[in-house]
Amino acid sequence: MIKKFNVELEGQIEFYEQYLKIINPLLTYDDIFRNNTDGILNGNLLEFKLNITDLNACLFQTIKYLSSMRIKGEPIPANILLISLNTATAYVYNSADYLKYIETVYVGGASKKNVGFLAYDYVSKLQYAENQADEFSLIQLLRENHYTKIHIDENCIVGWAEKYYRENPQARKSDFIGDSTGKVKIIGEIREPNKFRDYIYAYEGKDNVRFQYLMDKLNDTIQKKNLGAFYTPEPYVDKSIELVRKAIARVPQGNDYIILDRCAGTGNLEIRLSDEELSHCIVSTIEYYEYKVLLELIGSKVRYIIPPTEKEDTFNMGLVRGADALSEEYINNPVIKQYIDNPKCTIILFENPPYAESNGTTSVKGAWKKSFVVSEMKKENKGKVSNDLGNAFIWSAFKYYLRQPTDSYIVYSPIKYWKAQHLISKVFIDGFAFNRRFFHTNIDACISCILWGNEESHMETFDLKGYNINKQNEIEYVGVLSIKKINFVISEKYFDNRCFDDEMDGISCNLNGTEYLAKKNCVQKRFNENIIGFLICNGTGFDNPDLNSGITICGRYDGHGFFLRTDNYLEKLPMFCASRYITYNREWTERARIMKSGDGADKFFRDVKNGILTQFLLKCLVFTCFEMQNHMRTFIGSDNRFYRNNLCLDSTNGETLASKDLKKLKAGKKENELLEMWESVLRWAKKTDKYNSNYTYGVYQIFAELNTFTPDEETGENKPDYPELNGALKSLKQKVKEYYNSEIVPTLFEYEFLK
Ligand SMILES: C[S@@+](CC[C@H](N)C(=O)[O-])C[C@H]1O[C@@H](n2cnc3c(N)ncnc32)[C@H](O)[C@@H]1O
Repeated sequence: MIKKFNVELEGQIEFYEQYLKIINPLLTYDDIFRNNTDGILNGNLLEFKLNITDLNACLFQTIKYLSSMRIKGEPIPANILLISLNTATAYVYNSADYLKYIETVYVGGASKKNVGFLAYDYVSKLQYAENQADEFSLIQLLRENHYTKIHIDENCIVGWAEKYYRENPQARKSDFIGDSTGKVKIIGEIREPNKFRDYIYAYEGKDNVRFQYLMDKLNDTIQKKNLGAFYTPEPYVDKSIELVRKAIARVPQGNDYIILDRCAGTGNLEIRLSDEELSHCIVSTIEYYEYKVLLELIGSKVRYIIPPTEKEDTFNMGLVRGADALSEEYINNPVIKQYIDNPKCTIILFENPPYAESNGTTSVKGAWKKSFVVSEMKKENKGKVSNDLGNAFIWSAFKYYLRQPTDSYIVYSPIKYWKAQHLISKVFIDGFAFNRRFFHTNIDACISCILWGNEESHMETFDLKGYNINKQNEIEYVGVLSIKKINFVISEKYFDNRCFDDEMDGISCNLNGTEYLAKKNCVQKRFNENIIGFLICNGTGFDNPDLNSGITICGRYDGHGFFLRTDNYLEKLPMFCASRYITYNREWTERARIMKSGDGADKFFRDVKNGILTQFLLKCLVFTCFEMQNHMRTFIGSDNRFYRNNLCLDSTNGETLASKDLKKLKAGKKENELLEMWESVLRWAKKTDKYNSNYTYGVYQIFAELNTFTPDEETGENKPDYPELNGALKSLKQKVKEYYNSEIVPTLFEYEFLK
């Protein structure tokens, strides 16, 4: 008798329960259910259906899974088993027969559009419930561990590189893609598979030119950190070439010119220049395999490549001797120098410098930090400016290369070097804003590409033309994006640095607002009746927005903020509001373009004083009370003090400072809606088991302590214990976002808290 199932998953689980015991009892479902498949068991890919009605379509679905596995660098099981549960039949296929299809890239879900595929006959058909010999064959198959070898190409090489570096953490790029051309004869894994010998065919390409656009993604883990290589997508290259041509148009008549790219990678920026333009280029790059591709692709067309030929000692632990643009040797390169010293030659630099920076929380270690250029730069620039590898390129471009007013620099970089760090003050000629996502990252942020002239200028603002890239890989104009300089950081103008007679025996808080009990504490543990909380608004940009923004009831242990006091806390809240901007405005045009500033402080304080901003400050208070990064909590501290949250609207135990002050708000429809939603949140919160009637709750404490979850027994998914409360919190969150963008943001821009 063949058992019938109504639900596929049920049949599938029963199948595994039976057979895993004799195949390998140590395997878990996590080991088996990989890559969205119904299961990968040793060298077998399994696909279950209640009844297979179309073997061709079903097989094609599995081929698409295998295709995606190849791209991810996953070994391809040799057997494909299509299992029709209600007839207890397994149809067996060899994946090797379908290699051509497996090595094709498919777009869209694997289970869609599979009709029309024509498979070869199956290798065998096993009636595993009714025929003992067939069941024996099935068990033998499931024990097999054979794989079908695939070919390495540009679609899958990154997946296999990642697997290789993951499994061989000490391996270098040469171990993976080394070839026999040039002086270094390290033959890499792709050419002579060893670790992957059962999974891949040897790649026969003699060099790595085929992977020219991927060489950044093929870097080993150490190089990824040190080289900051994020390649420029073609549509953006084309736009930036427009700027190069503008720079060439500035070359005085009778002058020769050179286009220097000190960090050319595999030559993405140059490859689309005309032969005439290329004949003016001088290029180099520090990474050896990039250098070889660069040499191969444009070596014969450019004026000069550093080094022009590979010498015995060119390969230097994965790098190219003499090509480190930040070294003193490079600055003194005699070939470049001869052009710089020639007044009849115009210098154009065209670069997308490497990008690596320490954001204050994670430190970036790299040889470049000790380089000649960085140490020279530090002599002229104090502070964080020199934490940025890209800045070292920008600074040195003007310091060592550009000399005449008609010299130009076309440079890709996040704009903070000009906007906030004031690394250069040159004349802006033209420029674009691009979406960083397309530079082999997954971050939506703004990357500027600007043509600078070599003349001093003290502009306060300029406009970039914004371009995104659409699904068809075409460039799409999104409008003008203005860039405004920031002259004062927010902390300088707005932090409350007044001295009070505080007691110093208080406590400090964790990021999540609970009491901090560990030793490494950087904040003073102040206590004063006039302290209501601690506001964190750190840095100019929006990296790590949650870490660099917040309000806690006592000093946050890592500092970067100031104590909010009863007498003037309201006028401090716009800072907190500003620090939340990116959370509610995630478009690529905003991140790395809009920043926090203290530039509008004079106007702000004047208008606070004359009352113009009273209602705005109360709106900021509404927002602050309902915003989830307000991590104020009520609790009894280890100093035995009762800390009560005064920046919330729970007046169960008497008015809070916020609820008292909000009486002055002329509440409109939007505020009333929010207040109603809050009432609902509080009402449901009071019905939870953990509610403490002595406490005064803000939204965050309700979310973190009362809105509890329990994993569902069947699915393992977390389910809310109080769906009404959970729902009310979610609705409030959505409304807070709308409120912020319509009621708060425009004024933050007007007073340059956001700029
Ligand atoms: C952002 S990528 C740009 C590559 C290419 N120009 C493009 O736009 O696609 C930066 C390049 O700089 C190279 N690089 C990193 N540090 C360098 C250094 N100190 N000297 C020269 N090149 C360096 C990296 O290997 C990488 O190829």
